[in-house]
Amino acid sequence: MLEMARRALANAHAPYSRFRVGACLRTASGGLHAGTNVENASYGLTLCAESAAIAAMVTAGDREIVEVVILTEGAELCPPCGRCRQQLKEFAAAATGVHLCGPEGVRLSTTLGELLPLAFGPDAFGTESR
Ligand code: THU
Repeated sequence: MLEMARRALANAHAPYSRFRVGACLRTASGGLHAGTNVENASYGLTLCAESAAIAAMVTAGDREIVEVVILTEGAELCPPCGRCRQQLKEFAAAATGVHLCGPEGVRLSTTLGELLPLAFGPDAFGTESR
C-alpha cells in the first residue's frame, strides 16, 4: 500500500501548495486503490488524495474500505482533512486502520473512529446504502 501511495504521490498535481499527498485504500475484497491530490488554479476546487482514491475505488466497483495509507513528504504528521474523514466514513467502519506515513514509513497508526468520533454516516438512515 505504501508503494502504491508513493507512486501516486509522485504524480501529484500540486503546483500551488507544493504539498504532495499519496493515498492507498485496501478493500474487503482485496482491492487496492491509490489516489493523489489534484490542485486547481481556482484553489477551492482542489481534490485531496483520499478523495481521488475513493473515486478510483468506486469507479472500480469496490466499496468497503478496511485499511487506509496516507503518505506525505514533510516533517510534520499529516492527518486527513475533515472532508476526507467524512468521505472515508461513507465506506469504512470506525475500526478501520488509518496509517499516517512519511518517506521513512508509518509515523502513526490510528482508526477512522479516533479521527472522526460520533460521526454522521450512512448508518443514520438505518438502511444498507453501500
Ligand atoms: N491534501 C490532501 O490531499 N489530503 C488531505 O487530507 C489534506 C490536504 C492536499 C490538498 C492540497 O493539494 C495540499 O494537500 C495542501 O493542502
